[in-house]
Amino acid sequence: MVNKQFPVAPRAANIEYAIRDVVVPALALEEEGHEILKLNIGDPIAYPGLPTPQHMVDAYVRALEEGNNGYSHSYGVPELRSAIAADEQRKGWDASPSDVYVCHGVTEALQILFAAVLTDGDTVLAPGPHYPPYMAYPQMYGAQTVEYKLQPDNGWNIDLADIESKMNDTVRLLVLINPNNPCGSVAGKEEINQLLAIARKWPNCMIVADEIYDGLDFTGQHRSVASLSNDVPVIALNGVSKVYYAPGWRIGYLAIHDPARRLLEVRDGIERLLRSRLCASTPAQIGYLAGLESDRSWMVDYAKKVINQRNVCVERIAQIDGLEVQSSGGAFYMFVRLLDPKWAENDKQFVLDLLHEEHVLVVHGSGFSSNLGKGHFRLVYLPDVDVLNDAFDRIEAFLRRHRNE
Ligand SMILES: Cc1ncc(COP(=O)(O)O)c(C=O)c1O
Repeated sequence: MVNKQFPVAPRAANIEYAIRDVVVPALALEEEGHEILKLNIGDPIAYPGLPTPQHMVDAYVRALEEGNNGYSHSYGVPELRSAIAADEQRKGWDASPSDVYVCHGVTEALQILFAAVLTDGDTVLAPGPHYPPYMAYPQMYGAQTVEYKLQPDNGWNIDLADIESKMNDTVRLLVLINPNNPCGSVAGKEEINQLLAIARKWPNCMIVADEIYDGLDFTGQHRSVASLSNDVPVIALNGVSKVYYAPGWRIGYLAIHDPARRLLEVRDGIERLLRSRLCASTPAQIGYLAGLESDRSWMVDYAKKVINQRNVCVERIAQIDGLEVQSSGGAFYMFVRLLDPKWAENDKQFVLDLLHEEHVLVVHGSGFSSNLGKGHFRLVYLPDVDVLNDAFDRIEAFLRRHRNE
């Protein structure tokens, strides 16, 4: 037999996911017995104090025990589709259950959407910096992602002029991640209206509104994009992972807001793709349903904890020579600027050296955009205050030790 490697398809060989790529050296250190302070992953369950609410867990377990272990409808359990539509209605638009498609997380919803919309030569216009799949997936369908700028010195607000200059007929999807990962910025009504005004001029373009952090808006300014559009088609994305604290359940959805009924063919494509992959996990959908249908006052306490941790980070960073940050208005991330040119030029080296020398794990900014994210690192402010303070002590010591080298 010929001892030859089977070739990997180029579309897979080039995929990168910075957030998990830095975990590889961290695991190696853990295997050597070191304890790592992890400020790297946007998974609330990875940190103490923010468990999945018990009534949701109970509903999931009950679903298993009651034998809800079969395939569900391909577009989602009907009661869940109705509950999601009602939730989107509360956000201000006339969603109906048939507009809602339940997926294995927003991540699967994105793959389905890209597969249904994109073809050779198309463009996805996404914020820079951005959550990595917005760069990784479109290329699988012959499209390319172009970044529009979030302004580093202006609260990471959207640079609308930059969007305007990058619009053309190939742009099929204009992405808004709101609140943003990795910057934690929140776009309000005015910015969204301006974004819609730009999209309105380009009939090939719909908006992808990734609102998975919408319940973690600390500014009070967040608005659903669909609720503000009377004409431009909007695909709203959301799910159980962040605001309902159950990312491992892998349940999310896409909801189609199509006021001018221009997405009938795309909708048909989405439905075909969804049927061809059977369904999302049935008991997990029932767990999410319990979250949507029950009292949500618990979210206020969870948010209080997260805001307190954010404030600690902002205060500590202000006192550390060599760091600067625009405070975060939502989600649980902040994107910290490295002021020392040595690190600003090589943020990945900063992350790796910090990991090896101080056992603190963050994610390099260039992993969220090689151009618009470099010179930064993303930190997750989900760990307890004590862990955050310990991490900042170590980051401060690291920067001091390497200053003027
Ligand atoms: C902006 C954004 N969208 C989507 C996801 C993933 O969502 P899901 O867990 O529903 O696949 C993440 C996870 O970090 C995210 O930051």
